[in-house]
Amino acid sequence: MTELLLTEIDHVAIAVNDLEAAIAWYQEAFGATVDHRERVESDGVEEALLKVADSYVQLLTPTRDDSPVAKYLANKGEGLHHIGYRVANCAEALESIKAMGGRVIDEAPRPGSRGTTVAFVHPKTSFGTLIELVQE
Ligand code: CO
Repeated sequence: MTELLLTEIDHVAIAVNDLEAAIAWYQEAFGATVDHRERVESDGVEEALLKVADSYVQLLTPTRDDSPVAKYLANKGEGLHHIGYRVANCAEALESIKAMGGRVIDEAPRPGSRGTTVAFVHPKTSFGTLIELVQE
């Protein structure tokens, strides 16, 4: 049996068309404030992280038309985009999936936002949910 590799829900990512409007809504509805904000040029996204206990709500919007999040919004509209699971070792968790014959988007861990190390697992492997493995 595989030992538990997930240590926390790191973030729940929601794709939105208007980042400012989404931030304002979370603020007004729930009193949630932005803890971290970052443009990740390599992914073509701008994100705002709102802290909830030890996890984040990650509001995501595309910064260019060919970004994967832009394609997601065009095809599916706004909504839940991916779940970020915190792991102690991103490479180890990725290898566990590959060893099962699972499909991954990132063959090796790479830099994520907030100085994290991340890798994405293809939703076809993980029951329709895009999974991001996040190592702090
Ligand atoms: Co993410």
